[in-house]
Amino acid sequence: GIELGKLLAATGYTTLDPGFVNTASTKSAITYIDGEKGILRYRGYPIEQLAEKASFIEVSYLLIYGELPTSEQLETFTDKIRRHTLLHEDLKRFFDGFPRNAHPMPVVSSAVNALSAYYPDSLDPDDSEQVELSTIRLLAKLPTIAAYAYKKSVGQPFLYPDNSLSLVENFLRMTFGFPAEPYEIDPEIAQALDMLLILHADHEQNCSTSTVRLVGSSDANLFTSISGGINALWGPLHGGANQAVLEMLEQIKNSGGDVNEFVRKVKNKEDGVKLMGFGHRVYRNYDPRAAIVKKTADSILKKLGAGDELLEIAMKLEEAALTDDYFIERKLYPNVDFYTGLIYRAMGFPDRMFTVLFALGRLPGWIAHWREMHSDPTLKIGRPRQIYVGHTERDYKGIDLR
Ligand code: ACO
Repeated sequence: GIELGKLLAATGYTTLDPGFVNTASTKSAITYIDGEKGILRYRGYPIEQLAEKASFIEVSYLLIYGELPTSEQLETFTDKIRRHTLLHEDLKRFFDGFPRNAHPMPVVSSAVNALSAYYPDSLDPDDSEQVELSTIRLLAKLPTIAAYAYKKSVGQPFLYPDNSLSLVENFLRMTFGFPAEPYEIDPEIAQALDMLLILHADHEQNCSTSTVRLVGSSDANLFTSISGGINALWGPLHGGANQAVLEMLEQIKNSGGDVNEFVRKVKNKEDGVKLMGFGHRVYRNYDPRAAIVKKTADSILKKLGAGDELLEIAMKLEEAALTDDYFIERKLYPNVDFYTGLIYRAMGFPDRMFTVLFALGRLPGWIAHWREMHSDPTLKIGRPRQIYVGHTERDYKGIDLR
């Protein structure tokens, strides 16, 4: 790419690219996507290989530090995270202030933002040791925060983390377990969740990651920048799509299960209806993550014996869309979120927690981008330009003349 912006600025011109359809805001060595071919790689490693063979902790290390860890590095990293899973006792009270029926996303983003208030010893973006400490704190505490947001919503007591467990096991226990009662972890569920987190771990300059970078470009601390990313993720056009897909499938089921009628509505853009979980700014081919999720959905739903009817509707809907000219012409394929909600629901998560699970997965990617940006000595504050289309100069009128 060429630095067209700088060239044009020198000539007095400004580039206008609404939605940044073709404007690169940065160079990055973290994630590679070829949207035409449906290729996704983290640090050069194909997503298919990582999903099959790696753990979420390993992938987090890979994204943040650039290489897969040796077994010693992995042990040290895992151990460091284990030591930071507890939340400050005062921060736990933070959850009491929210109404019980609050959506967990603003609860989670507020709690993450509040980490800046509770851990002032790790806020300096220019101090590498502090950045490392805030990285570990985030990776360790977000699962605890997410589990507490869930517990709050169902009115159940919070559980302290059990640090003999892995990150995902610990999260499952804090979410679904009860104090003083043994919680049996289903290894297949833990493994499937771990794999789903890997699939969500990074996706280069998407809306939430760009938000993290933009907030961080002002030298705002890591906690606050990540909190901004969580808010951006919540929207139904981004991470909120996984919840919206399930709502759409339920709606189709409740109105008789006719997928062709739904596709007709989408094509006619009736009431602005979209096929949620379909389409992507970059992929003009099958999202490679969706292909992996689809296989998992099939086996995990069979095992848990749940959600079959909705899975059937989803598969019929996919088939109807993929053979329809509207979707073919626009190169609209299922994205990662088309099948994830079905799996999360079968695991026992309510729809409102789906986007929180996405945030858990995306966290290492956000951190990696923030750190990559800060390690660049040429870092500039993000400051887009605009084309002004408002009034030309006019004189103030007193209120009696308006
Ligand atoms: N259903 C129906 N039509 C669609 C869909 C869809 N899901 N997605 C795009 N289109 C249509 C648009 O209406 C437009 O049609 P037109 O040319 O007749 O106006 C054309 O396809 C191009 O779409 P754009 O909106 O220009 O594509 P853009 O790249 O801006 O949007 C987005 C991408 C937001 C993901 C979009 O496809 C969408 O809204 N999908 C549904 C929400 C969703 O699943 N989001 C998750 C994205 S993945 C993620 O964040 C993890």
